[in-house]
Amino acid sequence: MLLAIESSCDETAVAIIRRGQNGPELLSSLISSQIDIHREFGGVVPEVACRNHAQRIRPLVEQALRDAALTLEEIDVFAATRGPGLASSLLVGLAYAKGLALASGKPFYGINHMEGHLLSPFLADGQIPPHLGLIVSGGHTLLIDVQAYGDYSLIGRTIDDAAGEAFDKVGRMLSLPYPGGPEIEKLARSGDPKAFAFPRAQLKDAPFDFSFSGLKTSVLYQIQKLKNPQDHLADLCASFQASVIDSLVTKSLKAAQKRGHQIITLSGGVACNRRLQDCLSEAADQKGLQIRLTPPALTTDNAGMIAFAALLASEKRPPDDLATGIDPNLSLAKP
Ligand code: KG4
Ligand code: ZN
Repeated sequence: MLLAIESSCDETAVAIIRRGQNGPELLSSLISSQIDIHREFGGVVPEVACRNHAQRIRPLVEQALRDAALTLEEIDVFAATRGPGLASSLLVGLAYAKGLALASGKPFYGINHMEGHLLSPFLADGQIPPHLGLIVSGGHTLLIDVQAYGDYSLIGRTIDDAAGEAFDKVGRMLSLPYPGGPEIEKLARSGDPKAFAFPRAQLKDAPFDFSFSGLKTSVLYQIQKLKNPQDHLADLCASFQASVIDSLVTKSLKAAQKRGHQIITLSGGVACNRRLQDCLSEAADQKGLQIRLTPPALTTDNAGMIAFAALLASEKRPPDDLATGIDPNLSLAKP
């Protein structure tokens, strides 16, 4: 029985997992979202996030135990996200999990949040096959060559804004509620993706890296040029979204082919986007490649994915020292 805590940004989350005979079983997975609180500020306010984590963590752990019909004494391993993320937010979850491990004399594992996203498409299988992982979240856009669990190399990343960050910033330019991603996707459904010719960044010496800041500036100029941008919301959203998706799909396919991977995974908050899922699946189909999507409940930040990464860690390596601290800039893989 492994209990994991995720608190790297604005979701407090707790999950309990065990390896059953047919693979990992998620016995409970709870998320206490703070989105409604941060929406008022147009983005995440770290001090507010940290206070809310501190208030919510204990009741959430107790609820997760109740849902799984377990007592604290029945948990064998504790885990928490140790980075990357907001320092003050990470501290709450990590300190709480280490406290439980120390008090009960049980092992502790510190987990990389991005590894949680990366492995999330395989939770039901419990095994990690070689694949190309595309992780698209609010803070990261990564293309990772995965040979096996723990064997990751970085193929591409964003050189400026992350894909989710670009969605959120364009959402703010269009006066949409935070976070912009889901709002833009909704509006884009009735828009024309060819209405505005927004750029697709090509980086000469880094064919698998992404850049979304030029796109963001183009959208801004287009908004300023239009007399009534609010009358063109759907077309602006559809055209912006098409540009982001085009870059993500084209580069993922090329990277998979270059590294000889048959499977491409899509994970992270932006992986909720249905249009991105459809475009990636269609393009992969044409090349005879497979797409593995992340189950919806594991797509935006959650502790289920941290619990799964910790379960694999507990089967492969010794526990972490209780002196292990947070690392807000923790990286997942080297080039
Ligand atoms: O993985 P996540 O929950 O948190 C981070 O680790 O960053 O990702 C959050 C990001 C936000 O930028 C949000 O706008 C974006 O995921 N997002 C979406 C959609 N749903 C969430 N972006 C585009 N389309 C969506 N449907
Ligand atoms: Zn995340």
